[in-house]
Amino acid sequence: MKFNGSDQYVATDDLMLAVNAAARLQRPLLVKGEPGTGKTMLAEEVARALGLPLLQWHIKSTTKAQQGLYEYDAVSRLRDSQLADPDSAARVRDIRNYIVQGVLWQAFTAEQPVALLIDEIDKADIEFPNDLLRELDRMEFHVYETRELVRARHRPLVFITSNNEKELPDAFLRRCFFHYIQFPDAATMQAIVGVHFPNLKKELLSAALKRFYDIRNLPGLKKKPSTSELLDWLKLLVAEDIPLEVLQSKDDKVSVPPLVGALLKNEQDVSLFEKLVFMQRQGR
Ligand SMILES: Nc1ncnc2c1ncn2[C@@H]1O[C@H](COP(=O)(O)OP(=O)(O)OP(=O)(O)O)[C@@H](O)[C@H]1O
Ligand SMILES: [Mg+2]
Repeated sequence: MKFNGSDQYVATDDLMLAVNAAARLQRPLLVKGEPGTGKTMLAEEVARALGLPLLQWHIKSTTKAQQGLYEYDAVSRLRDSQLADPDSAARVRDIRNYIVQGVLWQAFTAEQPVALLIDEIDKADIEFPNDLLRELDRMEFHVYETRELVRARHRPLVFITSNNEKELPDAFLRRCFFHYIQFPDAATMQAIVGVHFPNLKKELLSAALKRFYDIRNLPGLKKKPSTSELLDWLKLLVAEDIPLEVLQSKDDKVSVPPLVGALLKNEQDVSLFEKLVFMQRQGR
């Protein structure tokens, strides 16, 4: 099993190396990086390229580790116990009928090896990663209600993404292989855009990329636009048929880019731009 990128996903050499290293070590690959740099899509594409089914677990602030293992549906059991028919009575007697399998259980007991994505682990509370240490390490857990041990038939290829909203505990980090997706350089970005817009005119692309990186390099920006914002912006530029001249700034003057709402997502950043344009005019 070796990942070499895919026709829809541009993977740099170090990213491919990281995926293959995690697979070899049979440890989860912890992927960090700015929002929109392809962390979630990586798991989808690796699974597709290696022909593995992908199980996804999207973490929210309320998600508990136990939900990934199993949940005991006490409410249904109580309801069934109040029904008079013999079928319900028989069902109630066996607690296994009320154990609902979580994503990890499904991944562990799947017939064939699978990929498992634990997306945005930093959204959950601090106990969440700690509660999964044994499961991710030994790939097994106990079901206390039935005294059953669920053990992975095949170790799943695990991807864990984080946006760095919270620090992860050391004991958790020790069990992972880590990779930080660097923001793509111009050449990589060109390749990424090529995947999404194969017929984009060269001049438009290079003018747009220049504007994009100029914006990203602007000091004081609160939220730098990322890959997915660039792709949205390009889509709009093409759809609205924005002429090339509008994108190319004359003698390197700052100007607010067309359809700026695709790139800048808060008012401070837009007003920073407007201030720069204003100062430039004053300086003339
Ligand atoms: N290397 C890449 N190759 C192809 N497309 C990419 C790449 N990186 C990002 N993209 C594009 O950017 C979009 C956003 O990617 P994705 O949702 O995986 O980002 P993310 O890092 O998970 O962001 P977030 O942290 O906000 O969840 C993708 O749908 C894809 O279109
Ligand atoms: Mg994501």
